[in-house]
Amino acid sequence: MSRLPTSHTTSLLELTGQQLRQELSLVMDELAPYLDGMLENDAWAPHESPDTNITPREPKLGPPSSLDEILVDLFQRRINPSYSPTSGGYMAYVPGGGIPHSAIADLIAGIINKYVTVWSVAPGLANIEADIISWFNDLVGFPIGSGGYLTTGGSLANWSAIVTARRVRLGDDFSKAMIYTSDQSHHSIIKASVLAGFPETNVRLIPSDGARQINLSALRSQIAKDRESGLTPFLIAGHAGTTNTGAVDPLEQLAELSHQEHLWLHIDAAYGGFFCLTDRGNRALRGLHRADSITLDPHKGLFLPYGTGCLLVREQVSLRQAHQISAAYLPPFQEDAAHVDFCEVSPELSRDFRALRVWLPLKLFGWDTFRQYLDEKIDLCGQAFDAVKSLKHIEIMSPPQLSTFAFRLVPPNVLSPTELNSLNHDFLARINQQRKIFLSGTTIDGIFMIRVCVLCFRTHEKHILQCISAIKNNISPTIEHYKPFD
Ligand SMILES: Cc1ncc(COP(=O)(O)O)c(C=O)c1O
Repeated sequence: MSRLPTSHTTSLLELTGQQLRQELSLVMDELAPYLDGMLENDAWAPHESPDTNITPREPKLGPPSSLDEILVDLFQRRINPSYSPTSGGYMAYVPGGGIPHSAIADLIAGIINKYVTVWSVAPGLANIEADIISWFNDLVGFPIGSGGYLTTGGSLANWSAIVTARRVRLGDDFSKAMIYTSDQSHHSIIKASVLAGFPETNVRLIPSDGARQINLSALRSQIAKDRESGLTPFLIAGHAGTTNTGAVDPLEQLAELSHQEHLWLHIDAAYGGFFCLTDRGNRALRGLHRADSITLDPHKGLFLPYGTGCLLVREQVSLRQAHQISAAYLPPFQEDAAHVDFCEVSPELSRDFRALRVWLPLKLFGWDTFRQYLDEKIDLCGQAFDAVKSLKHIEIMSPPQLSTFAFRLVPPNVLSPTELNSLNHDFLARINQQRKIFLSGTTIDGIFMIRVCVLCFRTHEKHILQCISAIKNNISPTIEHYKPFD
């Protein structure tokens, strides 16, 4: 008979409550100062010499280590170098969240480790996810009978939306079914389409206009052209906030067109969706409620930790239609629509209890706190935009609709488009050099632009002032030191 290794009175894997307290207090000794430093933390830490800074790879698992040793390794030799989306100065890409309250929820969820995708197995806990979905549906203006589930992020929600639409609207041969999205679309829409089985050539990238919103007449004529040539227009993927510039597509008009053409309308609101909590966001996102499905990303606009996305659908029955495949060894599923078996309306069976990390902060603070934070982000972005656009030699692409805008430096001396791009790469590197703020760039129609995206919950006015100074103070040095190509 084998003997389990023991420590104190129990086996090593079976921590007592007292032991857990002790281990957590070791963790807290590292975590509390880390958390307290976050407001002042650098927005990124570059890895000039990664081999000397971080713990090398460990291709084979070595002997066991103590928790102390592991924490030292983690906090001193692995967490940095890295980008810091939890820092107030981080305005790159689309900042993630990381409110600590969700980490408390994750600790509870991990310890209780309940099975939450079959209602009868843990009904009180399954109801938590069902309630969150109702609250989100209410927020976007979906009617009674709508549904959804929590995904790990926006990419998976986009994929699941396209799979659901395909299963509901198309038969087994969907080789001629066409998907329409703008040239500003997040790449996850194309990836989702391909992973849902569509040839990449079935995704039409419709040109965007000067405000980087989808060009409706180009979209209309592409749909008509495709019908004429025997193809089957199937789905439009609009954006409630693009990643490049935060542009919101004309959602009302997209809804109208989808209705006329009998197309599924999916709105990727991963970045912008939660702004509908605010009056200004709600106005910018007018028409969102008319979609057939919506991607939300609580790990962006609700400031939750990574691993928290969401797909909402206008008719919950469509999720059921797409996913309802059962087996004799599973407990019976529910007939009552109020009791949701999430494995029946989504691709996963066993999974984490991700709803708890959404529910706990919402129960603690209600919508109002999140509304105030999001309103602040719109204000801060407006403040940055007003200051940056008034700077000499700065060109702005378009005013922010939510909390993102793009700009570039155009010096008085004439440069070729390639030189201008290279100068702006240099400008961005200089802006980020002090590490207090971190911006990222993108290329739109061959033009390299620098982006400001205000979404981190720790970003406040002082970070915006730092950002404005970093931009202003680096205009002249960039122009002076730039060496055009020969
Ligand atoms: C508009 C948009 N859609 C989808 C995604 C993908 O979301 P995720 O990173 O959660 O997979 C992003 C990510 O930034 C995004 O900005």
